[in-house]
Amino acid sequence: MPDTAQSMKSMKLYDQVERIHNELRALGIADDAPLTAADLEPFDSYHYLGAEAVESAATALRLTRDSRLLDVGSGIGGSARHLAAKIGCHVTALELQTDLDALSAELNARCGLAGRIETVCGDILDGPPDGRAFDALMSLLVFIHIGDRQRLLAQCHAALKPGGRIYIEDFHLLRAPDADQQCDLSVKVRCGGPIPAAATYKAQMAEAGFADIVFEDMTGRWSDFCRERLRAFRANHAGNVEKHGQAVTDGLEDFFRVIVGLFEDGVLGGLRISARRP
Ligand SMILES: C[S@@+](CC[C@H](N)C(=O)[O-])C[C@H]1O[C@@H](n2cnc3c(N)ncnc32)[C@H](O)[C@@H]1O
Repeated sequence: MPDTAQSMKSMKLYDQVERIHNELRALGIADDAPLTAADLEPFDSYHYLGAEAVESAATALRLTRDSRLLDVGSGIGGSARHLAAKIGCHVTALELQTDLDALSAELNARCGLAGRIETVCGDILDGPPDGRAFDALMSLLVFIHIGDRQRLLAQCHAALKPGGRIYIEDFHLLRAPDADQQCDLSVKVRCGGPIPAAATYKAQMAEAGFADIVFEDMTGRWSDFCRERLRAFRANHAGNVEKHGQAVTDGLEDFFRVIVGLFEDGVLGGLRISARRP
């Protein structure tokens, strides 16, 4: 795995992603059994609010069966499978980390969705796959990892046909972190660079050439979601240790705790962003 992708592993959400197989086995689903996208939904989203967020993207992007969508930072493919199964659009799932990309391809095949979802392992900073332009682009909780915002937004702009729409879920900075919080952001959240305040973010998007930029503040709902995620994970500590082992359980719990702290201390806020390439 390239260095940039390998360094992502200090964020424990990305450690041992094959743990989804432990979840399926615990439900009595064999490793080679066929699956549906719905079977995987409790386990395959690395963003907040699960399918609701993906539906919000589908609406903002006006996706139809004919749409060709680029999912930037697609993780293990939960959003791509949801949209390919429900809407029938064609999704190109671009993911930096090789193990996540491979797992995504395996799960797509088991869901019978490999024909609608193309998996590509790569870095959005290198441009859209094969320089292609798409009808729509979505990216859920990915941009925080990428320091070079100017290049990132330029590549997203280049990835869209004229008139194409973009939907982003991302963080914005509400208050400067102290030294410990900055360390957590850099190491445990793999933050790639300074997190912009909302006004700066909007200006960066306009400068990259996007129009009709709409921001929806998600801070309260994401904070509640993360608090509940931590509570539920802790409540099932013994079951998680049994399924995933002590080290993975401790790593995930620590990651969930750090995120709750960053929201509760007023450092991080959340945004849903939609815009259009004129
Ligand atoms: C929090 S996860 C979200 C995954 C997925 N969007 C979801 O909602 O389940 C962020 C993902 O972005 C990927 N990523 C980070 N930087 C990237 C880059 N430069 N190009 C492509 N993917 C990237 C990470 O490897 C990780 O899988």
